[in-house]
Amino acid sequence: MAIESAGLVEKTTETEQLKPLNVGLLGIGTVGGGTFAVLTRNAAVISRRAGRPIRIVKVADKNLELARRVTGGAVALTEDGFALVNDPSIDVVVELIGGYGIAKDLIMAAISNGKHVVTANKALLAVHGDEIFAAARAHGVIVAFEAAVAGGIPIIKALREGLTANRIQWIAGIINGTTNFILSEMRDKGISFAAALEDAQRMGYAEADPTFDIEGVDAAHKIAILSALAFGIPMQFSRAHIEGISKLEADDIRYAEQLGYRIKLLGIAKWRAGGVELRVHPTLIPARRLIANVEGAMNAILVQADAVGSTMYYGKGAGAEPTASAVIADLVDVARLHKASPEHRVPSLAFQPDAVKDTSVMPIAEIDSGYYLRLRVEDKRGVLADITRILADQQISIDAMIQREPDEGESQTDIIMLTHVTKERFVDIAISKIEALPVVTQRVVRLRMEDLG
Ligand code: HSE
Repeated sequence: MAIESAGLVEKTTETEQLKPLNVGLLGIGTVGGGTFAVLTRNAAVISRRAGRPIRIVKVADKNLELARRVTGGAVALTEDGFALVNDPSIDVVVELIGGYGIAKDLIMAAISNGKHVVTANKALLAVHGDEIFAAARAHGVIVAFEAAVAGGIPIIKALREGLTANRIQWIAGIINGTTNFILSEMRDKGISFAAALEDAQRMGYAEADPTFDIEGVDAAHKIAILSALAFGIPMQFSRAHIEGISKLEADDIRYAEQLGYRIKLLGIAKWRAGGVELRVHPTLIPARRLIANVEGAMNAILVQADAVGSTMYYGKGAGAEPTASAVIADLVDVARLHKASPEHRVPSLAFQPDAVKDTSVMPIAEIDSGYYLRLRVEDKRGVLADITRILADQQISIDAMIQREPDEGESQTDIIMLTHVTKERFVDIAISKIEALPVVTQRVVRLRMEDLG
């Protein structure tokens, strides 16, 4: 009562509570179809939670035939996204088009029209998020994005609300299902990257053009968003270090396994005294870690925080209904919160906008990590001594080592070394010196390691 009398919450009449939240859907592809199906199937339970029905009243899609098929003709259809975002009967716009182009124009138009927005568009938020959230603040609307990172896993909710007491120290996530599927296939079947990619495409996991997935760009979009939420920093996608898995060789997966490690494509964000580490790359993880055993197209995010310790979030990172689950959770939040004045809502990026600090992202040469090094060498006396001398000169300490026994008549072999944690720039120097040795016959393969303990 005290709160109401202070005017912080508008009183709603019973009629207002039951007035449906009208949703306009931009794009009725896989996730749009899933959202329509789940909202229809679970209408009663969702309405009991939201306090009012949530209904899709209009769909905009270039493919009207598909839209008609999915909706069964139950809602208004248009090919024109702007007709939808300008429709005064719509309270919330759900953007499921993706990309930086028309999706951005439509979201900005919806915000200017005073409509709340729910989006799954990680690429757009990672690059233009600061501008979009500023516009949302100026117009007093919500921009919600649970579906943008790790599909159905409520990681945005966890970081914005559940972990709010903590100083978050680091996040490490398997946040791209396509690459995790490929890596699982390479390990299980001992096949090459190219063969595993073909499997992923056959299963419908990888896009026809899978570049964003396999080159780590999709994971970098997601870790940029998570780091902003975790550390109270702006979106820094352009400063992230990104390496994908397309150059990863089956040999390295096998050697890692022999040494007790699995290789995963991780998105990593760490809070450090000198700045933030923000990177995506294939990473060796001890095989006994829970996250190392996340297989196939599943996602998992490990968060280390000072009060709670380590927590892990696991589930489906893509797919029609898992992603719809996140979209609808956002719609329920909008239904519950849109009457609250903006300063009484949870801030979009967890921190109050005036408390966001532009902390710098550390250059990759300055990060601290353990390293896996694979060297192709002539099998001759003194080779190992030369290599270990170079490493020692750079203060790099070796943690483990194996040498493959050469096949009959073979004059070359592989040496695999794991180092203790060191600075990347020392490893860069050591590698260039090692590669200059005449007995070293190929480029050194270097992979980073994370203990995640
Ligand atoms: N391409 C993404 C993945 C889909 O493979 O995880 C969800 O962002």
